[in-house]
Amino acid sequence: LGSELIYEPEVSSTQDIAHTKAQAGAKEGLAVVSDRQIKGKGRLGRPFYSEPEHGIYTSVILRPDVMPYQAPQLTLVTAVAMCEAFQDVTGVTPEIKWPNDILFSGRKTCGILTEMQSEPDRIQAVIIGVGMNINQQPQDFSEELQNIATSLRAETGETYNRAEVLAAVYSRLEHWYVTYIHEGFAPIKAAWEHYAVSIGRELTARSATSTITGKAEGITEEGMLLLRDETGTIHKIYSADVEITRS
Ligand code: BTN
Repeated sequence: LGSELIYEPEVSSTQDIAHTKAQAGAKEGLAVVSDRQIKGKGRLGRPFYSEPEHGIYTSVILRPDVMPYQAPQLTLVTAVAMCEAFQDVTGVTPEIKWPNDILFSGRKTCGILTEMQSEPDRIQAVIIGVGMNINQQPQDFSEELQNIATSLRAETGETYNRAEVLAAVYSRLEHWYVTYIHEGFAPIKAAWEHYAVSIGRELTARSATSTITGKAEGITEEGMLLLRDETGTIHKIYSADVEITRS
């Protein structure tokens, strides 16, 4: 993955370019990388602030032979790969907040967006987008972001060669993607739970239609979050914003 790569210094969104390339038949593994996005896309239709030059913004085309309902598992594949890549380059172990935020010291360093091109029973392509904060200093973040965002440099005091970070990311992503294709979701689930900060804690999951508070019991085979509320009922959360409300 990522051995064939399109680099543009500035784009609207690497995700959109990868979608267009995938629709035109691009092969699995093609990656798009940029230093700056004018219209970075986040989860749940939100904009993703893409600070110029200090970050890395990349999207890759995958064509896994799995069912469309399994596509969210690839978010977890990517989250595990990102934790390992960051650990490789910094020596510090990050944490995952369900489903896809990579945290250092409780602050977000990386976000992952998984989008799919599919027919009802067949995936044509999955586009995985990853936005990473690498060389920002704390003051490079707006006041509003300073409490919730961080970068590799802000954590360790070191500056990183972004090409080396990108190489680590694609090497780890390839390793975990191949593991997923050959062995299924079980090894991914185990590795994901190893990095997950949220398991065993009380979380509040908010979506457009509901708010559920409960103890995080783990994740399902599809990558959904399991919350046990105070009546003992288990809720399966497919998509939501999650906040840790008690440790
Ligand atoms: C999130 O945390 O909400 C997900 C953010 C994903 C951002 C990445 S940056 C590269 C790719 N291109 C985009 O427009 N979005 C993703």
